Amino acid sequence: MKKIKLIKPDDMHLHLRDAIYLKQTVPDAAKRFARAIIMPNLKPPVTSLSAVMAYKQRILAEVPEGTYFEPLMTLYLTEEMTPEIIREGRASGLVSAAKLYPAGVTTNAESGVKSIERMMPIFREMEACGLLLLVHGETSDPTIDIFDREKIFLEELSKLVAACPNLRIVLEHITTRDAVDFVISHPKNMAATITVHHLLLNRNDLLSGGVKPHYYCLPILKRQVHQQALITAAISGDPRFFLGTDSAPHAISQKECASGCAGIYSAHAAIELYAQVFEAHNALDKLENFASRYGAAFYGLPENKEIITLVKRPWRVPKHMIFGEASLVPLYADQEIGWSLATDLEE
Ligand code: DOR
Ligand code: ZN
Repeated sequence: MKKIKLIKPDDMHLHLRDAIYLKQTVPDAAKRFARAIIMPNLKPPVTSLSAVMAYKQRILAEVPEGTYFEPLMTLYLTEEMTPEIIREGRASGLVSAAKLYPAGVTTNAESGVKSIERMMPIFREMEACGLLLLVHGETSDPTIDIFDREKIFLEELSKLVAACPNLRIVLEHITTRDAVDFVISHPKNMAATITVHHLLLNRNDLLSGGVKPHYYCLPILKRQVHQQALITAAISGDPRFFLGTDSAPHAISQKECASGCAGIYSAHAAIELYAQVFEAHNALDKLENFASRYGAAFYGLPENKEIITLVKRPWRVPKHMIFGEASLVPLYADQEIGWSLATDLEE
């Protein structure tokens, strides 16, 4: 049977949420990933070092015994952030990056940043102390067409790059050819994460033949040409593009309603689905670098020691997953995935 071995990957963009959600989100991630960059858009957002520390402890409490999983924590940037918190977060080693959400741009982004200009002292401090900036790259201008919000934001990002040329930036969950080109044309200090749902789906999957609320995420799925550009970037072997799932659980009641939340849950099958995409494009040999090396290198982390094995054996994703009192429809619900984790087959 066909098998592939990989250095245990890192998920460089993950929403674990909190409370009861951690009981499922943490074991799902820890099975597949040795480390993950944990998003701070909780309610209220994670804006202080004490909140970072407490959240990290809540996550670690749910790591299954015998499993190594390191949550790499992030700070949520508001306009009240201070250079001291940035400096202290970096110096303590507790914080791996800070996340910029333009205000209101996505789930729990209400407390985000209204003016990049006003944040310059923070970005200068991050540049000076070497803390990474993670960017939700969409304009929050509601008059801009939702399909153009990433492209338009890149103009703002250019100004920030020019003002802080040594700031290390990860453009998160890119969705367009424009973002791929932007990263390639800024070779210094710039990288991007690519989700598995943006590799697997385009806006026809979301909108054609009936609206699919479980495919609604932000940035929204784009045209097929953009999906193709993301696939090309992911399998290119360019170390500036690496794995970040943006897996984000939302209960069915929050998705199947008049104003549904953005977010797709993929942590239950993430590496298996990336393997499926890479295989479909004859690029399985590129998967390990994308999933296990390039992200770590950009973050200045050592390679993970553990190995995972994927086996070419199909399994069917459940229709629903139970999260405490909530139930959720995961990515690929009731569909077959060609690759299994060897550890799942042993269970
Ligand atoms: O689809 C998304 N869900 N995109 C985001 O930017 C946030 C995330 C979430 O927090 O649920
Ligand atoms: Zn996210």
